[in-house]
Amino acid sequence: MSGRIQAPRGTYDVLGESAVAREVLEGHARRILERAGYERIETPVFEATELFARGVGESTDVVQKEMYTLEGGDHETITLRPEGTAPVCRAYLEHGMHKRPQPVKLWYLSSFFRRERPQKGRFRQFWQVGAEAIGSDDPAVDAEAILLLAELLEALGCRGVRLRIGSLGTPAARQAYRTDLQAYLRAHEAELAPEVSARIALNPLRAFDSDHAGTRRAMEGAPRLLDRLDDDDREHFEAVRALLDAVGQAYEVDTTLVRGLDYYTRTVFEFTSDALGAQSGVGGGGRYDGLIEQIGGPHTPGIGWASGVERMLMTASAVPAAAPPLDLYVAYAKPEKRAEAFRLAADVRRAGRAARLELGGRSLKGQLKQAGNAGARYVAILGDEGTALKDMETGEQQTVETGTVLHHIAQGSF
Ligand code: HAM
Repeated sequence: MSGRIQAPRGTYDVLGESAVAREVLEGHARRILERAGYERIETPVFEATELFARGVGESTDVVQKEMYTLEGGDHETITLRPEGTAPVCRAYLEHGMHKRPQPVKLWYLSSFFRRERPQKGRFRQFWQVGAEAIGSDDPAVDAEAILLLAELLEALGCRGVRLRIGSLGTPAARQAYRTDLQAYLRAHEAELAPEVSARIALNPLRAFDSDHAGTRRAMEGAPRLLDRLDDDDREHFEAVRALLDAVGQAYEVDTTLVRGLDYYTRTVFEFTSDALGAQSGVGGGGRYDGLIEQIGGPHTPGIGWASGVERMLMTASAVPAAAPPLDLYVAYAKPEKRAEAFRLAADVRRAGRAARLELGGRSLKGQLKQAGNAGARYVAILGDEGTALKDMETGEQQTVETGTVLHHIAQGSF
């Protein structure tokens, strides 16, 4: 037999305190999003590979090199979802959600898969909270979506958060701009990083993303898409900004903001945190008015975002990592008392309170220590002379009928 098997690279187990923190995060997300009319959606963990090829875009890193694709049987290839927007749009179409009042607002908390090089804040299986509002191009939907993510990050106490926004315009404006940018990049090819110059034809916008010093210098003089927007798109962007201004939401306009997925049109945005390392993106998103057509539906505008659970928790200062309170620990000295102790713990739990029973075969002393470590508010000790109920806060102890323990702890008195 060879060595022990470990979790795959880039994955992790959710244990103890971090499980509690994730629940707290989910509670905030649910409250904030459902208050704004977002309904929960869950889609399958895998989808037809073509959904991502067409939806996310053939030229993206995600589709080119990060997807976990496998034989799905039935002569099709399937892919573990690398993101949630294309699947949610697929579900919108498949369930005829265009017949519902628009926009349809959906949110999710799900795991996603990308074959990336693992590093701090970057995993191969990770979780996102995401929100998608489909069926309206009103700039108020954009502003509201941005605000909701800002609210979530604030509720979690995420540190050092900055919001950047931009607009990518329509595909036509972007196409014209792209040609100009390609010409500019070719003229400066000698200064660019090899991987940037290799992508001039396929994805020139990514040049703005490069960390390479020469590329960065060259890009300072590059044409900016934001200066090339057509009137409708410029007005749309101004309207989004005006709404953010109206509620006092701080942001910076970033003329070079590019996102790693191809479906974006018009508004794009990203929240970053100084508290993260190289992977400083906490969450981001934007409008995808062409995506539903790309995957075979009618023209339908949409906007949304996704925020990484791991990255939010890495920067969160307001997420308690404490276990939920324990109302009662049931201890007993002799094995004959085990059935009675078992019943008491079960009754207390059925009555809606947290109760734990000694299960480790510890001595009575060990059990009391265990109750203390678990933070139990009360301990019931079932002995020959009756049941002693101890208030762990005051240290007070009294003998009571076993049948009245629940009553006592509910009353908070003996
Ligand atoms: P994304 O920017 O690719 O957008 O991912 C959103 C967030 O997911 C990132 O800001 C980051 O927090 C987290 N994330 C991404 N990749 C990883 C990884 N390998 N490890 C840990 N966290 C990661 C999207 O996925 C779009 N679907 C967002 C969207 C929704 N746009 C419109 N609607």
